Amino acid sequence: MPSKNQTPPNGRPARRAPRAADPAARGNGAPRIPAPTPRPGGSVAPYFTDGYRHTFVGESLLVHADCMAWMRGLPSSCVHGVVTDPPYGLKEYDVDQLQKMEGGNGGIWRLPPSFDGSSRQPLPRFTALNVGERERISEFFTEWARETERVLKPGGHVLIACNPFLCQLVYAALVAGGLEFRGQIVRVVRTFRGGDRPKGAESEFPDVCSLPRGCHEPWGILRKALPPGRTVADCLKDHGTGALRRSRSGSPFLDVIPSRRTSLEERRVGGHPSLKPQELMRQLVWAVLPLGRGVILDPFTGAGSTVAAATALGLHCIGVERRAKFFQAATAAVPKLADLPGLR
Ligand SMILES: C[S@@+](CC[C@H](N)C(=O)[O-])C[C@H]1O[C@@H](n2cnc3c(N)ncnc32)[C@H](O)[C@@H]1O
Repeated sequence: MPSKNQTPPNGRPARRAPRAADPAARGNGAPRIPAPTPRPGGSVAPYFTDGYRHTFVGESLLVHADCMAWMRGLPSSCVHGVVTDPPYGLKEYDVDQLQKMEGGNGGIWRLPPSFDGSSRQPLPRFTALNVGERERISEFFTEWARETERVLKPGGHVLIACNPFLCQLVYAALVAGGLEFRGQIVRVVRTFRGGDRPKGAESEFPDVCSLPRGCHEPWGILRKALPPGRTVADCLKDHGTGALRRSRSGSPFLDVIPSRRTSLEERRVGGHPSLKPQELMRQLVWAVLPLGRGVILDPFTGAGSTVAAATALGLHCIGVERRAKFFQAATAAVPKLADLPGLR
């Protein structure tokens, strides 16, 4: 098993200079990147782990890093698909905002009051973003898409969680960064709020709601362009990418997914405010590898629901998480989430 690298004393993963594609990984013009083989004694391409604290779980790998710095250290065309749930508003996962949330102080997080003996999950308030913050989101996702497009194999898909309020901004930024927009998955679930009467004038306008009550979570479907003149079939043969996988019964992947909130059992295991349910994530990781082989990347891994879903299905996945506390949480949670019964 490769040695685990330690996080530097300041607790932050070391930033690494961009590195050119590994010549050893190249053969007949195309990069030949082995899937991570996360078993003791197995080999893993060193650029996935080099310089970073990391741990192997089943067929997958968790890395403690800032995904932007980490991706810059990868050669081009080395992952087959991305399934991820980024911090939509960026701000909500800034250290100061997390500290406010954890201290019960709010910040961008709305802290619903406890009642009936149950306390509800904090939710970020995206309507509070100002123009400058929206510009910061655009710039971040454009830059992220550039780097993601570079590390994806041609035809590789990106399935990215968003929310109804910000998806237009995020999709435009991802396209500006070089990804093709291919549509949207609608996860039918009531996780977002909205539906409130106008603040401060509730009794004056009792028949009005300022935003619709959220009943779905949009997931963008994007793709790295096929090489010029190549078809989907060519891409499948050359790279194992270019399309989405059908369900086990042979029906096409559907872009509406009825879903439930993340179960209490999963939330207890995961310990992350944005943990996604295995029921959903297993469908997404299944779909993103059209031939069922290759490397999936989740650059914003949180407590590792994507990695756990891939692990449950025997797929290779790399999860990258910036915050030490969540990296630790993922290390503990992934095997337990992967063991939960359900779609396999
Ligand atoms: C919405 S949460 C993902 C939750 C995840 N889907 C789960 O089920 O646990 C986004 C995560 O991205 C992490 N993050 C934010 N910026 C990052 C970056 N630049 N690199 C790596 N992780 C980052 C945050 O710490 C947070 O845990």
